[in-house]
Amino acid sequence: MCGIVGCIGSKPAAPMLLDGLSKLEYRGYDSAGIAVRDGEGDPVVVKAKGRLKVLEEKTNNGHSVPGSCGIGHTRWATHGEPSERNAHPHMSEDYFVVGVHNGIIENYQELRDKLIRKGYQFESETDTEVAIKTIDYYYKKYQMGPIDAIAKTMVRVRGSYALAVMFKEYPGEIYVARKDSPMIIGVEDGETYVASDVPAILKYTRNVYYIGNLEMARLTTEGATFYNLDGDVIEKPLTEIKWDAEAAEKGGYEHFMMKEIHEQPKAIADTIASVARKGDQGKYIDLETLELPEEVIKDISRIYIVACGSAYHVGIAAQYVFEDLAEIPVTVDLASEFRYRKLLLDPNGLVVIISQSGETADSLAALRIAKESGVRTLAVVNVIGSSIAREADHVFYTLAGPEIAVATTKAYSTQLIASYLLAIQFGHVKGLLDAARVDELITEMETLPDKIEKVIDDKDRLQWFAAKFANEKDIFFLGRGIDYAISMEGSLKMKEISYVHSEAYAAGELKHGTISLIEDGTLVVGVCTQSDLYEKTVSNMVEVKSRGAYLMGLTSYGNYNIEDSADFVVYIPKTDEHFAASLAVVPLQLLGYYVAVTRGLDVDKPRNLAKSVTVE
Ligand code: AGP
Repeated sequence: MCGIVGCIGSKPAAPMLLDGLSKLEYRGYDSAGIAVRDGEGDPVVVKAKGRLKVLEEKTNNGHSVPGSCGIGHTRWATHGEPSERNAHPHMSEDYFVVGVHNGIIENYQELRDKLIRKGYQFESETDTEVAIKTIDYYYKKYQMGPIDAIAKTMVRVRGSYALAVMFKEYPGEIYVARKDSPMIIGVEDGETYVASDVPAILKYTRNVYYIGNLEMARLTTEGATFYNLDGDVIEKPLTEIKWDAEAAEKGGYEHFMMKEIHEQPKAIADTIASVARKGDQGKYIDLETLELPEEVIKDISRIYIVACGSAYHVGIAAQYVFEDLAEIPVTVDLASEFRYRKLLLDPNGLVVIISQSGETADSLAALRIAKESGVRTLAVVNVIGSSIAREADHVFYTLAGPEIAVATTKAYSTQLIASYLLAIQFGHVKGLLDAARVDELITEMETLPDKIEKVIDDKDRLQWFAAKFANEKDIFFLGRGIDYAISMEGSLKMKEISYVHSEAYAAGELKHGTISLIEDGTLVVGVCTQSDLYEKTVSNMVEVKSRGAYLMGLTSYGNYNIEDSADFVVYIPKTDEHFAASLAVVPLQLLGYYVAVTRGLDVDKPRNLAKSVTVE
């Protein structure tokens, strides 16, 4: 995935483009570039390999590039290595069409061959250059206007894209188009902006349009005109972004990830408060905003949770909670597998897609497949107006606010909360949880923010421990039931930012092969928050200890006999065990964070990763 930004108005464009790109660097950071036009002149194109700061230095923070109309891009390489040549913007001959792109053009090779036969030459290995030259081809061959040439290209290409394009013959205008890749347009006092995500333009405007799938727009200083694929003008509502720019800044923390770990109590409290109400019979859950009435819930015979990465781990934890509280059978699938499986979906089933970004390509494809099969869909999504949120039948918005660090923390935590709330309400509607029990569960959930604060307060101890194990080769995480789900997330947090190999295992599965990897001193983290499984997991921990493992135990206050087996223990406050993942994940987030910091790594932008994976 990549980040795109564009602006047109009366102010210098290049400094704004660089500023906007700095907020999108989480989307890609192997190269960057800008193209800026001054009046009717050709655009000045500057590109640089590496982090954005290289481009900033090259352009004197944008001040050496004059003009008030421009587009910019920060890249996460898909086609072609990270290099200046492959960096965007790309252009057709003589700067006729200059553009940036986020997404993947799947049939780019076929189009490239065709364009070569027509006399086109290619400077890069990218699919983007193919898209730009295809627009150029239709524009010139059929002497079409920009909208028609882009529409014709959209029909011809397969894949996903958000495109921002300037045409030589249309100075002072930017044309944009999108399919399955995010894009928003902002307007404010004679300045018009386009970006992949809100933080890029939040400093400049809060008034945004969400451009739909297979739609285009023409941007001028007067605002935006929207078009459908037939080239007809369409109307769009203007939306006001409510969260403030500070929410997308580091606010004194060294890294976004640490800031976002600290934001978890508030994010969780906000998410609970969005649906929890107080009535005569105590607290209850109101899913009115999801438009999910009780008659519909009563008929749900099966739940299919589909997601990727950490959101998938939420699904694994949610499975135990749904099955226990609502007694509805749940299957959990990776979206990348679900979409290519022969699905025998129960017509009375509910497909739940969990996604922070709401743009993950596999999750979006899974949602569409479920909809095509006629099964009801519910999305648990953080980014308002994202594709998954727009297309699902029902949406539960998590209120985590903008999450910038590639490694998710607060979004994961709010997804857990959303799944508990759904499970409680489903259990209540099915007559399994009476009003008193619902009140009790909500009241307990409302204590989670304070309990997370307490866990975070103990972070120095984890920092010390992480420093001791920062040079580990392998780390293993063990658990059963919900503790297995927590282990999966702890392991992902560790490997994605610290680059230490780690694996999560269902504790009982260990002796079917993995135990052979345990060597003298290997760090093994045993997660033991579930009382009925506690002794079994501790036994598995003892098994690895007798093979030389160094044991870290993660359990609730009161389970002090774990110290008989573990070498180091982290305690979390007691809570209803259905909610244990919300507390136990926090020390594991901190552990991954501190190992990465000790190793001197770029915690917020781990190598080879991007925040939202909008390509397959
Ligand atoms: C986890 O830290 C990662 N950022 C990643 O696994 C993420 O959870 C996954 O890519 C799913 O993203 P989504 O929630 O935006 O769909």
